[in-house]
Amino acid sequence: MDVEWAPPGIDTSLPHSARMYDYWIGGKDNFAADRAMGDAFAAAIPSIRTMAQENRAFMHRVVRYLTGEAGIRQFLDIGTGIPTRPNVHEIAQAIAPQTRVAYVDHDPIVLVHARALMVSGTEGETVYLDADLREPGKILADPDLTATLDLERPVGLLLIAILMLMADEDDPWEKVATLLDALPSGSYVAITHPGLDFDPEAMGGIATAANQGGMTLVPRVRDDVARFFADWELVEPGVVPVMAWHPEGTPPADPNGAYYWSGVARKR
Ligand SMILES: C[S@@+](CC[C@H](N)C(=O)[O-])C[C@H]1O[C@@H](n2cnc3c(N)ncnc32)[C@H](O)[C@@H]1O
Repeated sequence: MDVEWAPPGIDTSLPHSARMYDYWIGGKDNFAADRAMGDAFAAAIPSIRTMAQENRAFMHRVVRYLTGEAGIRQFLDIGTGIPTRPNVHEIAQAIAPQTRVAYVDHDPIVLVHARALMVSGTEGETVYLDADLREPGKILADPDLTATLDLERPVGLLLIAILMLMADEDDPWEKVATLLDALPSGSYVAITHPGLDFDPEAMGGIATAANQGGMTLVPRVRDDVARFFADWELVEPGVVPVMAWHPEGTPPADPNGAYYWSGVARKR
């Protein structure tokens, strides 16, 4: 029996991506079903924890790049996950204290922890929206979002490890296109996505295990991930394994060690 405390609205009998991810990166906001599915994934792909950690490290690098080199001062982070320091605003505001961040997630456990995301530095601002990527129009029109971000000025859109949680039938490309169309020239989008082509058998195996456990998980091939960027201009080196995107320090011995595609693009 699962005797762990869970906030209202959370069905702890089903595994959930945010809590499995929290488990892999060493957090405490996960339940028995999340850990069981997390371990099943790890049996298929022993490097799954490294994948989660490398994905998170990409988020750190890309927020530093966008704030530092690209001069972005406002972020829209959809699929925020359970807060884990440093969060987007902590990284960005360390470089530019006036940075504003709108966080979006649809998981009740992320909502429970949202206060940790609202502790902005005094010059900047953060907001949390309990909203769904499948309804991008609602996100863009949300009064809390429009009170925090100026959509006439460049935005850094983060879609980090979220798009694989949407089935093809939900047309994630169309949902992303709606967001890209709404952002002004000079905006950036950063995406990571588990790659089927790194190891089709293992990645296919975790997708099947996830589906059997009631979760949608769709690893995709590089071309399908590249389509999310539409006609935006890819920042060098393009769509590459996550460990190969602007590595810091010694370049990784095996950049294919984490099965995630990643890329960053700018609206012309
Ligand atoms: C694997 S976590 C990634 C967390 C964070 N972006 C990172 O990379 O460290 C994916 C997050 O996306 C959220 N998510 C999944 N589908 C979503 C949807 N349709 N709308 C909003 N959030 C969603 C999940 O609740 C979860 O918190």
